[in-house]
Amino acid sequence: MKAPVRVAVTGAAGQIAYSLIFRVAHGDMLGPDQPVILQLLEIPPAMGALNGVVMELKDCAYPLVAGIVASDDPNVAFKDVDYAFLVGARPRGPGMERSDLLEANAKIFSVQGKALNDHASKDVKVLIVGNPANTNALITLKNAPNLNPKNITSMMRLDHNRAMSQIAEKAGSHTTKVEKVVVWGNHSATQYPDISYATVDGKAVKSVVDNDWYVDTFIPTVQQRGAAIIKARGASSAASAACSAVDHMRDWALGSNGKWVSMGVFAAGNPYGIDENIMYSFPITCENGQWKIVEGLEISEFSRDMMAKTEAELVGEREAIASLL
Ligand code: NAD
Ligand code: LMR
Repeated sequence: MKAPVRVAVTGAAGQIAYSLIFRVAHGDMLGPDQPVILQLLEIPPAMGALNGVVMELKDCAYPLVAGIVASDDPNVAFKDVDYAFLVGARPRGPGMERSDLLEANAKIFSVQGKALNDHASKDVKVLIVGNPANTNALITLKNAPNLNPKNITSMMRLDHNRAMSQIAEKAGSHTTKVEKVVVWGNHSATQYPDISYATVDGKAVKSVVDNDWYVDTFIPTVQQRGAAIIKARGASSAASAACSAVDHMRDWALGSNGKWVSMGVFAAGNPYGIDENIMYSFPITCENGQWKIVEGLEISEFSRDMMAKTEAELVGEREAIASLL
């Protein structure tokens, strides 16, 4: 057994956390030989519910759980953490866009960015899940000047997994046979799920599906999947969000084995000409605990327009919360 690592989860009494914490405790993120100390953050009114979650965690008698800290103080919950899932934030309801949450949730991430800056391990890997995830990640990053900007990321993996699943279903194949899907930009209705380079069963997806399906069905279905789930379930996605959060952190920490994934990252150095002061999702590979943008892809005119639209939305969100940066 390795020495334990510290994993923080915020919003720990919420619906995503109710799946996420148990997956992490089971070893789905870092493997069956990696013990974890869980550091769970909530707000004071939810500490009773969090106590119930802690009771259930104990009742699972997980071999990998080496300790549990439950707190309403980010300075305690982020102390020495190696991995941090920032989930705690208000979810949207029917008829709302994720950007409608900007005002309600933005302050949370300036406070937590500072606490991470002051208390987390200097190599902490941070994943922002709470919406609007990309701009909340930018706020976190700007409030944590002592952390490497590369260590703060936002969750686009749910969109990526949704895109893979739609392609597999359409092609009569399986998600394990789908490669090189990209979701560019924002975790919002402007995101651009791109099949330009994607393959299924080793064949170009573009040769397997027709362009009308791609433009009129696939893109809007992936863009609107969160809203469709809210409509169907009466609550926003939870188990699938937790699954994607585990996928994101696992691939980042342990490597993606050459597989492309989508992650929201700080666009330093203008990759693909994107504004360098936003958190934007790119095609990424991970190795040795580091992510890297897949470079040199040819960008069609259609893609360029789609990428610019979602970039413009992120620039607008950044302007709306400029005082917190
Ligand atoms: P939820 O309401 O069930 O849980 C959120 C929890 O966060 C609550 O228990 C609340 O008390 C807690 N919380 C609020 N402020 C906090 C703070 N300052 N510190 C710590 N905890 C705090 O919501 P949920 O369904 O778990 O969703 C959480 C967030 O994740 C929402 O913003 C949702 O929109 C977002 N989300 C993002 C993605 C993605 O792909 N990026 C996917 C699904 C959901
Ligand atoms: C999702 O994509 O399911 C989440 O971001 C929740 C939402 O508001 O759509």
